[in-house]
Amino acid sequence: MDEAVIRLENVTKDYPMGEVIVHALRGIDLEIASGEFIVLLGPSGSGKTTTLNLMGGLDKPTSGRVIVQGEDITRYKDKDLTRYRRENVGFVFQFFNLIPTLTAWENVAFALALLDGNTRSLEKKAQELLEMVGLSDRADHFPSQLSGGEQQRIAIARSLANRPPLMLCDEPTGNLDVETGRSVLQVMRDLNRQERTTMVLVTHNTAIAPMADRVVWLHSGTIKEIATNSSPAPVSALEW
Ligand SMILES: Nc1ncnc2c1ncn2[C@@H]1O[C@H](COP(=O)(O)OP(=O)(O)OP(=O)(O)O)[C@@H](O)[C@H]1O
Ligand SMILES: [Mg+2]
Repeated sequence: MDEAVIRLENVTKDYPMGEVIVHALRGIDLEIASGEFIVLLGPSGSGKTTTLNLMGGLDKPTSGRVIVQGEDITRYKDKDLTRYRRENVGFVFQFFNLIPTLTAWENVAFALALLDGNTRSLEKKAQELLEMVGLSDRADHFPSQLSGGEQQRIAIARSLANRPPLMLCDEPTGNLDVETGRSVLQVMRDLNRQERTTMVLVTHNTAIAPMADRVVWLHSGTIKEIATNSSPAPVSALEW
């Protein structure tokens, strides 16, 4: 991806709810550069997930533009949005969304198979992805036989199947204790530094903020503040 990977231009999102309209986003302007690590903070209901969904082409804004690599994805038809997501975006959610009847390896291999029907290289690629998150020795475990942090790392491995230049993570440590949360953040930091993956991480845990290149604070659907960390903290130095 090129310099400004994502540009939100005066983005609004309204949800009509019967008689009332919920103004989830009220005019967001934000530019994210290639390789940046962004932490998106804000209280519950401030519009974090909505913003992430618009960046990931999971939803369309009510008004404004979402420009990705110079292209306005709000004009995309569903088919183009599907292609955009498949080729560019890795999603990580709070509840890992693994398939319970498949092993760790199978969960990852399944994502690979959806991308490319060629099963010959599948085994090696799935193994490589498990190695990237440090879990090659858990390949044959089912999700119920993995800790929360391990499940989340499998979910990350799966989201990396398409080697996405952009990762969108919604409360990836929300259900994890401090130490497992740390190991998940470390995987993200390594991907960001080693593969130059652009990261947007949503959380309401302010303790994560020091590891970001920039911290974006949302409040009631608007950006309240953007802070730049000139020297982001290593994951090991985060205190929470
Ligand atoms: N599908 C929907 N229909 C109606 N209202 C919605 C919908 N999705 C979100 N909202 C509303 O939009 C606002 C922003 O929601 P959003 O999910 O983006 O918040 P959030 O910052 O991610 O909150 P949390 O930290 O609780 O996950 C909230 O007030 C929410 O109630
Ligand atoms: Mg949310």
